Amino acid sequence: MIPAHYSPRPRPAELIADILPPAVAAAESTGKAPRTGFGLFPAEEAALRTAGPGRRAEFAAGRLCARAALARLGVPATPILPGWAGQPQWPAGVTGSITHCAGYQACAVALAADVAAIGIDAEPHQELPATLIEAVATRPERAWIRQQAACVPAVCWDRLLFSAKESVAKLWYPLTAQWLSFHDVAVCLADTGTFSARLPSGPGWASGDLPEGRMMGRWLIRDGLILTAITLRCGGLATSSRAGTLAGLLRRQNELRTRRSTARFS
Ligand SMILES: CC(C)(COP(=O)(O)OP(=O)(O)OC[C@H]1O[C@@H](n2cnc3c(N)ncnc32)[C@H](O)[C@@H]1OP(=O)(O)O)[C@@H](O)C(=O)NCCC(=O)NCCS
Repeated sequence: MIPAHYSPRPRPAELIADILPPAVAAAESTGKAPRTGFGLFPAEEAALRTAGPGRRAEFAAGRLCARAALARLGVPATPILPGWAGQPQWPAGVTGSITHCAGYQACAVALAADVAAIGIDAEPHQELPATLIEAVATRPERAWIRQQAACVPAVCWDRLLFSAKESVAKLWYPLTAQWLSFHDVAVCLADTGTFSARLPSGPGWASGDLPEGRMMGRWLIRDGLILTAITLRCGGLATSSRAGTLAGLLRRQNELRTRRSTARFS
């Protein structure tokens, strides 16, 4: 359970910061997302016009964390509108990710010059509903989960795998404009709190083009939460034999951003 002294006011992250590299700034809040006093920009309010109170509260809590995290990067507050697939649209030169679950909200951001993409996810530390496991985990992953559950039963390995895949999906979508299916991504979780992800081939990139050395996944279980984070480092492009493909992905990401803002303001 979340300790009672935790507060819904966004503050520099303690939990999620533990699994993020130093170039990433993060903010988090805990406890129930407040239902009033959102402090949203009018354009953000407009994006929520059909949302119910619960959705408004979680959206606002995520945006407040985002502003606190951006401030840590020295980026002034600005509307962060959802893109066509729900992805947060960051100010130019910034990349990031938002997550919320019951009792916890967080945002992680970085300068795009340092980090190409980020995915974070928070889940309650509880087993996945049994009906979901086949959709989430491949047959080898299910066998691995059974083995892990026998060795370390205190960890909900099924939910942890789910969270890691959600983090990967949140990193991947803004780069490629493609949703991955759960069975497209092979995630390998290490007991030491790291994970790696193998992604499928697709238009403009090939499986293995994002080598593990450039993608860093980490996980943490604390205070009743599962937290996962994955970052794609953008350093070293010039010397990489795969530089062309990764540079192509990043170029495509910029084109998508430009297309979206042109569409919004035309
Ligand atoms: C969008 C999705 C990833 C959100 O995950 P979740 O665990 O339900 O919820 P979280 O609170 O952790 O994350 C929600 C936040 O993700 C972000 N998000 C939504 N769509 C996104 C996208 N296309 N790309 C990146 N981030 C996205 C948003 O910031 C959202 O919060 P907001 O709407 O308040 O801004 C998930 O609901 C989904 O649709 N998944 C389908 C794709 C998928 O999971 N594929 C398999 C994975 S391998």
